[in-house]
Amino acid sequence: MFELYLDTANVQEIARLDAAMPVFGVTTNPSILAKEGKGLAEVLPAIKDVLGEQARFHVQTVSTTTEGMVEEAIQISQLPYDIVVKIPTTEIGLAAMKQLKSKNISILATAIYSAQQGFIAALCGADYLAPYVNRIDVLGANSVNVVSDLQLLIKQQNLSCKLLPASFKNTRQVMDILRLGVDSITLSTDIAAQMMAHPSVQPAVDVFTNDWQGAFAGKLAYQS
Ligand code: G3P
Repeated sequence: MFELYLDTANVQEIARLDAAMPVFGVTTNPSILAKEGKGLAEVLPAIKDVLGEQARFHVQTVSTTTEGMVEEAIQISQLPYDIVVKIPTTEIGLAAMKQLKSKNISILATAIYSAQQGFIAALCGADYLAPYVNRIDVLGANSVNVVSDLQLLIKQQNLSCKLLPASFKNTRQVMDILRLGVDSITLSTDIAAQMMAHPSVQPAVDVFTNDWQGAFAGKLAYQS
């Protein structure tokens, strides 16, 4: 099943978008929570109220040592939600992933900028890999190549991790990545809204409405 996430902690925006698309869960990071000015204790229950019991949350550690990340990840994983712990894919983060794997904690390796970096995280036991699509592209690399290389390596080595590309800045990037057949994506609320929108849609619907009113004023379709 494809997993569509929203990369936000804004409860109102999550509610608005969830009404019109099947939101599987939410991804957050320290910057997203800082922007909302709200911590996990406030945000997670409010989002769960909106999305329901089955919602999956990807929550990032903020510790700067391996030991700190491991302890923080254990605490995060014990929160009463379907939680995946996000660990930055640095050397100390990879060391934390290795330790956490033996503790059966679900891990997302975040801040992935290259296929080789993601591959090491997958070997360390990450359940999800989050390549940063736009950030890769603006550095002059090619996010489609990074994601397709990761798919190839995961398949060749029969690894069980999923790809959860993040950091999209336009819908063309989203389509380029979806075309590769990834397992999941996370979208900012702006990009999620743009996925539903097209400047020609409302004018087309307006023509239907006008034509209908001209011929069957006041009636609904089943009354005609
Ligand atoms: O979780 C981090 C990832 O979503 C980055 O997105 O938009 O800050 O590049 P962005």
